[in-house]
Parts: sequence; structure tokens; C-alpha cells
Amino acid sequence: MGDSRVGQLQQLRAITSEQLAAYPSRAVGVLGVAGGNGLDLIDPQSTDTVYGYDINPGYLDACEARYRDVLGDRLHLIETSIDRSVRIEPVDLLIANLIVEYVGTEEFVAFAAANARSIGVLSCVIQRNDVAGFVSSTEHSSSFDGLASVSSDIDPETLASAMSDAGFVALGRCEYPLPNGKALVRQDFR
Ligand SMILES: C[S@@+](CC[C@H](N)C(=O)[O-])C[C@H]1O[C@@H](n2cnc3c(N)ncnc32)[C@H](O)[C@@H]1O
Repeated sequence: MGDSRVGQLQQLRAITSEQLAAYPSRAVGVLGVAGGNGLDLIDPQSTDTVYGYDINPGYLDACEARYRDVLGDRLHLIETSIDRSVRIEPVDLLIANLIVEYVGTEEFVAFAAANARSIGVLSCVIQRNDVAGFVSSTEHSSSFDGLASVSSDIDPETLASAMSDAGFVALGRCEYPLPNGKALVRQDFR
């Protein structure tokens, strides 16, 4: 795994820590949970339920192996492709870090709108690419095999506007610079 990939995972983990601290939650959902980066930051004492959603069963198996012991029955791992037909269990906080790129803005917002009553706060991270296309580095491509071809750049302003049109209120936005001119952009909605 290359340095930039490791750095991105560390940055995502740090952002997950901020998301969890900003919105203390009994029930947390994670879309595109992958191998569970940051799930170790969830306090089992103050969190009753954790839902992890991913299209890739291999990633969910990795999550299961890493976090079942710590989270026990709190952990629910669901293999699904996120789209507007999916209905999630109610959560106080829904984390969506680097998943909108795979689902697409329109479908993601339709999913959020269809589940609005089940979502307290939706905190999304997208990658802003000032230099090259998403999943453009060899390190990143090799870490998310098979999915590079279906990811695409997401414009944070377009996402915010579509979320607003769907009835969500923007709570805040932060930008986290990455090496190589890219940045992670976090936007929270209620
Ligand atoms: C870049 S990774 C997410 C990184 C992770 N959230 C983190 O913080 O480290 C994208 C994840 O989304 C999953 N994914 C891609 N398309 C999906 C879809 N349509 N529905 C659900 N999960 C999807 C992939 O399997 C992968 O685990």
C-alpha cells in the first residue's frame, strides 16, 4: 500500500473521529464501510447499534473479523448496493465517506430523500480532485479493485444544492487538504 493511500486512510479515520464526536449517537450507520476504517473509534459504552453497508462481501468479512469481538451484537453488516430502493434502519448519524463517488450524486440524494425519516444527521465526505481523476493513483486503484471504473468526480456544490432541494439543511462544511493537490470535503446535513 502506497504512502498516499495510507495517508488518505489516516485522514478518513481522523474525519470519522470528528464526525462521531460532533454527533454523539446511540445508533450509527456507515455507507461504504469497506474494511471498517474508523469503526474502532466507536465507543461501545455509548453506542447501541452500528450498521455497516457495503456492496463488497469481502470487505464486510474483513469488518466482521476486525470488529465483531469489540462491538458484539451491536454490529450489523449489510451487503447491499446503495440506491434509492434501499431502506435503512433509523440512525442518529449516517456516515458516507467516499461513497457518493460510486453511487452518483443523483442516486445518492434520492437514497437520502427516501430515507430522510431514518437519518438524524448525514455526514458525507467526497474527494475533490484538482489535479487528476478520482481513483487516479496506482495506490488507490489497487486498494479498491474492480470499482475504479465506476467511480466519478463529485462536485461538492452540486451535492449540497441537490441535498437542499431534497429538503436537507446544511449544517457545515470542512475541507481537508491531501498531498498531491487533492482534498477531502466533508459536508453535514440534517
Ligand atoms: C473508497 S471506499 C470507502 C472508504 C471508507 N468509507 C473509509 O472511510 O475508509 C468505497 C466503498 O464503497 C463501496 N461501494 C462502492 N459502490 C457501492 C454501492 N453502490 N453500494 C454500496 N457500497 C458501495 C466499496 O465496496 C468500498 O468499500
